[in-house]
Amino acid sequence: MADRGKDTRVSFLRRDGPTARRPAVHSLGIFIQWPGSRVSNATASDRDVTYQKHCPGCFVNKSGLAVCPQCGYDESAPRTPLYLPHGVVIGGQYRVGKVLGQPGGFGITYIAWDVHLQQRVAIKEYLPRSLAKRADQGEGVVLLAAEHEAAFKDGLEQFLNEARVIARFDHPNIVRVRNFFRANDTAYLVMDYYEGVSLGDYLASLDGGRVPPDVAAQLLAPVLDGLQFVHDRGIVHRDVKPHNIYLAQGGRTILLDFGAARAAADGEGPGAVLLSEGYAPLEQYQRGSPLGPWTDLYSVAATLYRMVIGAPPPAALDRVGQDSIAKPLGFDAGFERVLRKGLALAVADRYRSAYDMRADLFAALDLLDEHSPRLGATGIFAVSSEPVTRPINEPDTAPAPDTAPPTGPAMTKAAASENPRVLGPATPAGLTAAWIIAGAIVFGAALIAAVLWLRLAP
Ligand SMILES: Nc1ncnc2c1ncn2[C@@H]1O[C@H](COP(=O)(O)OP(=O)(O)O)[C@@H](O)[C@H]1O
Ligand SMILES: [Mg+2]
Repeated sequence: MADRGKDTRVSFLRRDGPTARRPAVHSLGIFIQWPGSRVSNATASDRDVTYQKHCPGCFVNKSGLAVCPQCGYDESAPRTPLYLPHGVVIGGQYRVGKVLGQPGGFGITYIAWDVHLQQRVAIKEYLPRSLAKRADQGEGVVLLAAEHEAAFKDGLEQFLNEARVIARFDHPNIVRVRNFFRANDTAYLVMDYYEGVSLGDYLASLDGGRVPPDVAAQLLAPVLDGLQFVHDRGIVHRDVKPHNIYLAQGGRTILLDFGAARAAADGEGPGAVLLSEGYAPLEQYQRGSPLGPWTDLYSVAATLYRMVIGAPPPAALDRVGQDSIAKPLGFDAGFERVLRKGLALAVADRYRSAYDMRADLFAALDLLDEHSPRLGATGIFAVSSEPVTRPINEPDTAPAPDTAPPTGPAMTKAAASENPRVLGPATPAGLTAAWIIAGAIVFGAALIAAVLWLRLAP
């Protein structure tokens, strides 16, 4: 699957026009009802604090105007009924706003307003379009056909499993998960909302759609830090690409979209995953082929390629045999070496750790790195370059199955990998070293104290 285009199914469109706008008197003041808005799963107190004059695009007070002077969002523009309507409250707490990005096949991400904490959040709704749709009446999600029930439920479980895994992460370059709840016969993942733009949209906005290598390296360095952090904890992202990298205000780069519920959307149950062509390495086309940090690092290299060339590299499958990117690309030789090592078709030729790739990239471009990669935010954990041993939804105690050697490439685009797989628990080698050093210091201090005592003792 290439970068997603806009949803072009115009026949779905309906107009949530401003006709429904009517003032409502409330003890706290006068509020304007959002056009076409309704409340579901709302508590009584939520219903009391009804539709204010706030823009569903940015939740800033826009005094009831259709087009927000703050963010330019026009809430009266057509909106497909596939999306939840503006203003509904889900989970008894989150008022739904505009749709973020261009929804892919697995779910829809909205900006929303947390009515309790009075702040913006991003909420992803599980809605695999090949299996389900919005009900004609109400906000519920219904199956397209009864036989999709098992696949839908499997995907929902995987969505929950992956949410649980990401929720454990606390890293400045990884999207922060706040909550998870079930409603409307589906499930919702609540995340921190970041003001900014996806790297994909940012590149598309540039003349020529590209940036120089040193800018690209500095934008991607935090992504590599974030990946090192998740790889150390046994997780493989599997879908690193410009639209899943977010440039938040304040210069913070954040890795989004941990591939929740990928399996069900293809209708093949867990084990299937849709690929982002150009960004997915060969092993993602191969059922049973071990995925690991090297998989994500191919995608980072492909993202780097897209950033400096202006277009993604050819699909990995198309590079087998005759590799059209083998010839020089016109950049500095050292930089191209890093790019090619990241984009190596064979896992054995590729980077095994995000830190190594980051260090090589900065060295090749002669960039000053503000922190030593090995002493970064997650430096206490040793990097494991062993292949994957177990799917993430298995308990920690699950025995590690043998990993099958890569098989020949499957020729279907979406038939690829197993569940997101996991490396064995990271070995805290750095921690052990720290204990040894601490022990040596304590021993040394005790020795000095003993010598002093012997000398000074009367
Ligand atoms: N937490 C967030 N804060 C701000 N924008 C977000 C957030 N999460 C997602 N987005 C925006 O929504 C888009 C789609 O989100 P994503 O999680 O990638 O879902 P999917 O690709 O499955 O539709 C992203 O490209 C980004 O523009
Ligand atoms: Mg995405």
